[in-house]
Amino acid sequence: MSTDWPALRAAAIAAAGRAYAPYSGLRVGAAGLTDDGRIIVGSNVENASYGLTLCAECSLVSALHGAGPAAPGAGPGGTTNGPSLVAVAVVAGDGQPLLPCGRCRQLLLEAGGAGLLVEGPDGPVELNVLLPAAFTTTDLAERREPR
Ligand code: THU
Repeated sequence: MSTDWPALRAAAIAAAGRAYAPYSGLRVGAAGLTDDGRIIVGSNVENASYGLTLCAECSLVSALHGAGPAAPGAGPGGTTNGPSLVAVAVVAGDGQPLLPCGRCRQLLLEAGGAGLLVEGPDGPVELNVLLPAAFTTTDLAERREPR
């Protein structure tokens, strides 16, 4: 599936406009294209208890799972729990790309895989470039102790 990056960026810009960021003053919007063709968005949500802040990408991943498949019975693309992301645009309030923080790279990895395309200042890059040698479910399965 090809990605309409201007449309994805526009959705991220609109989401940034809905951010709740009174403490940092940094509005962030994230928009993801799913493998079944939908655009899902998220915004950062801050809190007076600063450490509870949710990044825009975190909100996006939560919304992805909350939305579920496009239609009842539609097959999840490569996951066992809903659709996968194939492309993501994240912007700050100035409308320019913002690369996801480390925690969000890890969250996006499980929602879109190593090949997920993330828009950066020089164009789309694969997530595995932003998060090399990542910890994954494979590590968990191989290294956990028997119960
Ligand atoms: N923020 C995001 O929403 N995504 C990121 O990848 C980096 C940081 C938000 C969290 C906080 O509300 C504000 O930006 C300042 O850190």
